[in-house]
Amino acid sequence: MDIKKVLVLGGGTMGNGIAHVCAQYGFNVQLKDLTEDVLAKSVGIIKTNMERQVAKGKLTEADMNASLGRIKTITKNEDIDNDVDLMVEAVFENVELKKKEFAIMDELLPAHTILATNTSSQSITKVASATKRPEQVIGMHFFNPVPMMKLVEIIRGYVTSDETYKATHDMTLKLEKTPIEVNDYPGFATSRLIMVMINEAIFALWEGVGTPEAIDTGMKLGMNHPMGPLALADLVGLDIALNVMNTLVAGYGDDKYRPCPLLKKMVDAGHLGRKSGKGFYDYSK
Ligand SMILES: NC(=O)c1ccc[n+]([C@@H]2O[C@H](COP(=O)([O-])OP(=O)(O)OC[C@H]3O[C@@H](n4cnc5c(N)ncnc54)[C@H](O)[C@@H]3O)[C@@H](O)[C@H]2O)c1
Repeated sequence: MDIKKVLVLGGGTMGNGIAHVCAQYGFNVQLKDLTEDVLAKSVGIIKTNMERQVAKGKLTEADMNASLGRIKTITKNEDIDNDVDLMVEAVFENVELKKKEFAIMDELLPAHTILATNTSSQSITKVASATKRPEQVIGMHFFNPVPMMKLVEIIRGYVTSDETYKATHDMTLKLEKTPIEVNDYPGFATSRLIMVMINEAIFALWEGVGTPEAIDTGMKLGMNHPMGPLALADLVGLDIALNVMNTLVAGYGDDKYRPCPLLKKMVDAGHLGRKSGKGFYDYSK
């Protein structure tokens, strides 16, 4: 299947990045969000990020203008074109909202259209169950910031077809990104492994193994990680980290995923990391 037109649902952090790379690599994009204001902000971010690429010599000014010209913003379902080949959903991380949007898009979009979700933790199989085309539903998990990060974790739902997988895989290569193929289990591959490491680092802190600085420096200099796990937890948000751990416990029924009591206590206290000004480190200044 030859994908030419992409509908991106949600123009937030991930949606604007996905629209950016699709337009940059020649795909026509419809970017849909709830209001014109959000979309104006979203396109402003795409333009700023492309200007940065131009300044670094990674994109010509002409290519930037052509790419921006390929992005059309919309707020209404009536304005969705009838020749969309791929939808990539990047609305809030709420499975009921995702299911609702997938049911609507299933009715609206042509029979051949692939419906992908950028979810980082929800079940692809569950989202697919809201549609009459579960074989054409797949996870396309991009990483933040999308224009910089090379990985796309492609997640096959329980009944995702080989054709859907192949089209998504080929599309990822056209975006000059590296796909990995994984099956639909809680946390997939990436979120599962990174959150287990973060949770274990919090246990180490809680048990008095070392200070946050010692634990993070150990992983940075000893294991060559670009960032220590506690600093990473602060960046991701401690509420998000707790949420993913709870999803893993519920999904696998294995208490090896139990969230550290210190993580729960910090979330209760509103110490969520960078976004609240305080986590394992202080960001108030
Ligand atoms: N932020 C990350 O680092 C990251 C990384 C990988 C995957 N994800 C996943 O990507 C998805 C989006 O995350 P985000 O960080 O971009 O969120 P965000 O809050 O920045 O953006 C979500 C956008 O969706 C819009 N929206 C909500 N309901 C909508 C609807 N019905 N129709 C159209 N637009 C709607 C909102 O107005 C908002 O602009 C989530 O599923 C998240 O788990 C996030």
